[in-house]
Amino acid sequence: MKSLTTSKFQFTGQTAVYNGKVRDVYSIGQDYLVMVASDRISAFDHILPKGIPFKGQVLNQVATLFLNATKDIVPNWLIGVPDPNVAVGYRCEPIRIEMVIRGYLTGHAWREYKAGKRILCGVEMPEGMRENEAFPAPIITPATKADEGHDEDISREEILAQGIVSEEIYLQLENYTRQLFQRGTEMAAERGLILVDTKYEFGLKDGKVMLMDEIHTPDSSRYFYADVYEELLAKNEPQRQLSKEFVRQWLIENGFQGLEGQQMPEMPDEFVELVTSRYIELFEKITGKAFEKQDVDSMDERIIRNTENFLKENNLV
Ligand SMILES: Nc1ncnc2c1ncn2[C@@H]1O[C@H](COP(=O)(O)OP(=O)(O)O)[C@@H](O)[C@H]1O
Ligand SMILES: [Mg+2]
Repeated sequence: MKSLTTSKFQFTGQTAVYNGKVRDVYSIGQDYLVMVASDRISAFDHILPKGIPFKGQVLNQVATLFLNATKDIVPNWLIGVPDPNVAVGYRCEPIRIEMVIRGYLTGHAWREYKAGKRILCGVEMPEGMRENEAFPAPIITPATKADEGHDEDISREEILAQGIVSEEIYLQLENYTRQLFQRGTEMAAERGLILVDTKYEFGLKDGKVMLMDEIHTPDSSRYFYADVYEELLAKNEPQRQLSKEFVRQWLIENGFQGLEGQQMPEMPDEFVELVTSRYIELFEKITGKAFEKQDVDSMDERIIRNTENFLKENNLV
């Protein structure tokens, strides 16, 4: 099965390329971006050795859905989606933090809690909580957005002390983060899902805060199935998840947590297929629509054609 692992396009008006872990970001002139969602998959800040067919399409289409459904809360970068794997929008000056928000004690927060920590990013976590339990109210636990290596926890106080953003803007980010998470939670609930935690990235455009990047995708968020949540919690069993956590679990079981000296395990084809089906499952669960697999035979040509047409039709070049 074909997957899009690297893209090397040359679009009209292209001024720069940034290859992210998952997406390839092409700058068009000074003001616009073409973001190509590849089928690469990352975990523990490492890119896994094989692509996951259709993952890029899933991510791009899920992100689009949520960006369009939250425009009333905060303006976002998206202008349009010319192709299943491509999003075009405004280039922002990134604010170098990830606004992480958690409704439940799980993943990294749980690992810290289990190790005895009760304060995460300056926020207190109540005593006596169990894994996957809901916090009394969602907590915001920001992370630095490192150019290289791991993102690290950071508190509001440290963000302000380091002058990463002004207090006025930071409070605005917190406010947007809560409202977006609330909307995401409601939309997930309509589909029988719990939005467990997620992260948002913001940037500035003409001095105003804009939501950028992808939101509420399985790469940036954790989802639990709502119907079995209480039962599994009561039994202290792992939650039924729609997220990348199972990929992380698989890596841990195979001796990899992204630490120095550890070897990335080989990925059997059956595992790749399982990951594809999980991503498609998430798409269908979250959108309530059947996933339509794009034609993957001449993906590169299609992406170039669709994107070029869009840029010209919208006078972006
Ligand atoms: N509108 C935007 N303006 C500027 N940068 C953006 C915008 N939207 C997303 N980005 C950046 O593009 C990159 C997307 O690629 P990704 O694969 O997520 O990379 P990374 O490995 O940096 O997380 C991210 O670094 C993200 O911050
Ligand atoms: Mg990213």
